[in-house]
Amino acid sequence: MATKTKKGRSDSSTAPKGELGTRTLAMPGDTNPNGDIFGGWVLSQMDIAGGIITKKLAGSKTVTVAVDAMTFHLPVLVGDVLGCYVEVIKIGRTSITVKVEAWADREFSSSRVKVTEGLFTYVAIDATRRPISIKQRANHRP
Ligand SMILES: CC(C)(COP(=O)(O)OP(=O)(O)OC[C@H]1O[C@@H](n2cnc3c(N)ncnc32)[C@H](O)[C@@H]1OP(=O)(O)O)[C@@H](O)C(=O)NCCC(=O)NCCS
Repeated sequence: MATKTKKGRSDSSTAPKGELGTRTLAMPGDTNPNGDIFGGWVLSQMDIAGGIITKKLAGSKTVTVAVDAMTFHLPVLVGDVLGCYVEVIKIGRTSITVKVEAWADREFSSSRVKVTEGLFTYVAIDATRRPISIKQRANHRP
């Protein structure tokens, strides 16, 4: 079923795409002055999810180098359970780009809605924090 986002954009997604990276309860302490969940908190959950998956893929530490095309479709509410799903888009020499979708399970409801999505790029690094080749290190590929 297509849902309308706040700005009227149609979002035909009915189910999350990708691997579940994190699942977290949105708490009152995570709110903005409007009483909804602060966007920066949502972004950080998505970044953590992408980091968990890319670290596993690269077989090394990874750092976030870029966040692109972030869209906040709907607010996250206190009591929602936020799930962040990670889909690998591109594996480069030292970088991995993933699409992260954040979906909210609304409290006391069977409703699950896509609230936010964005592209996150991570770079595999060595102990000196320099980029390292993923192809040499990877022990787990999609
Ligand atoms: C990430 C970091 C190690 C990259 O170092 P660098 O010397 O700039 O590395 P390079 O220029 O060789 O780029 C490395 C990779 O990142 C990619 N990259 C760099 N900037 C990018 C950007 N803005 N968007 C997308 N990809 C980017 C490059 O294309 C390259 O990918 P590839 O090897 O797969 O082709 C360095 O910029 C850094 O430490 N940044 C801070 C990271 C951080 O603190 N993040 C926040 C907390 S996790």
